[in-house]
Amino acid sequence: MYWTSLLAAVTLAIPSVHGFIRFGCSNLVTERFDPLVTPGQVSPHVHQVVGGNRFDLAMDPNEDFGATATCTTCRFKEDKSNYWTAVLYFRHRNGSYIRVPQMANHNTGPGLQSGGMTVYYFQPSPPTKDLNITSFAKGFRMLVGNPMRRSNDIDPSTAAAQATTFRCFQGTSPGAIGAPGTPPEDTFSLPNKICTGGIRSNIYFPQCWNGKDLDPADHQSHVAHPVGNGFFGTDCPASHPVRLPLLFMEINWDTRPFNDPKIWPKDGSQPFVFSMGDPTGYGQHADYVFGWEGDSLKRAMDVCTGADGLVTKCSALTVQTTEEMNNCRVPVKVKEVIEDKYLKQLPGCNPIQRGPGYATIPKGCNALSTTFNAPSPTYAPAVVTPPWTVCNAGPTPEPLTPACDSIPGEKPPAPVVTPPPA
Ligand SMILES: *[C@@H]1O[C@H](CO)[C@@H](O)[C@H](O)[C@H]1NC(C)=O
Ligand SMILES: *[C@@H]1O[C@H](CO)[C@@H](O)[C@H](O)[C@H]1NC(C)=O
Repeated sequence: MYWTSLLAAVTLAIPSVHGFIRFGCSNLVTERFDPLVTPGQVSPHVHQVVGGNRFDLAMDPNEDFGATATCTTCRFKEDKSNYWTAVLYFRHRNGSYIRVPQMANHNTGPGLQSGGMTVYYFQPSPPTKDLNITSFAKGFRMLVGNPMRRSNDIDPSTAAAQATTFRCFQGTSPGAIGAPGTPPEDTFSLPNKICTGGIRSNIYFPQCWNGKDLDPADHQSHVAHPVGNGFFGTDCPASHPVRLPLLFMEINWDTRPFNDPKIWPKDGSQPFVFSMGDPTGYGQHADYVFGWEGDSLKRAMDVCTGADGLVTKCSALTVQTTEEMNNCRVPVKVKEVIEDKYLKQLPGCNPIQRGPGYATIPKGCNALSTTFNAPSPTYAPAVVTPPWTVCNAGPTPEPLTPACDSIPGEKPPAPVVTPPPA
């Protein structure tokens, strides 16, 4: 995304504006489980996880992941947090499903990350009253969105509705300039047309905290979106007065292999479904487990206030090469095939539920019965070459675009990693 116009406008008007950091995180593991979901609330469904390699089902809240993780898939070595979202599948006209690959975002190079997402931490900007941010603490977790939601049942003018949206890319263009999340450029439901350059998920986390709970049982009630329209320059509600950095993420789905309408469902409906059986997109959700080393995030927020988000300009943090990011992995624990081939059904107990009512957990379904003896896909997903360039190789770097030789040790173009045959 290009924040040029938004930030240039804000910067000119208000000299005290704070900036943001923006960085890629490659895939760490993709499998069917979710440590933040209470059993009985939702069927386990396939998620992609990025970040530090201490991610596992136990997720002990007393553990300091910043200290115990030994590598991370994120560009900044200090970020051992974990971020995860449900993944997208393509539903073929013949009824079979295959996972939609992911690709590097605009301006995330040099090098091509393997799957994953782009993560942003924004600082609040005027005219909001609460400019004094409090960084996340050890043990902090939260989730945004509701995997069971299937309709646009939240007032579209509120931050809660705009928190999870989609951009439909045409060709190499990043689309409209400015903050994502508002119609008509971005949609609340999965796009109902062909997106020749892929689809991007845009997810804003709540940025207001009650100042007390690190992780209540519902993982949500301790945080809230700001009051008013949008995510920038709006005040926190009285119930949640403490301002956190605004965490935002983008996931680029490479739908290009599936853009032939002849393989779309015969009724003409769009063919993509989330792993929890959601063909609408209203159930899009994401999880965050804080795991920055020591006070590194706070130190970065104190000094990395540039309005371009470029990783090499944040001197408080250490960058690593894309190869190092792509080589950090954790082994899968649920042994089942979930990607790289057509499947008869979505993994787990996740039949398609179109709504508009909330989805329900299917009765009498034994999720484990769908697992079978298969090779564990512990290899990194194949690196996809996106339709756009991720860095600038020319003599004069464009604003907000990393130069292709800006990261020490990086050797663009990145090698294409192909998985071993399954
Ligand atoms: C559907 O089509 C895909 C792609 O040609 C194929 O791999 C898969 O086996 C087909 N599924 C069925 C049930 O025919
Ligand atoms: C900013 O937040 C810190 C930590 O919560 C607090 O100690 C300090 O008093 C706050 N400053 C202002 C001006 O509110």
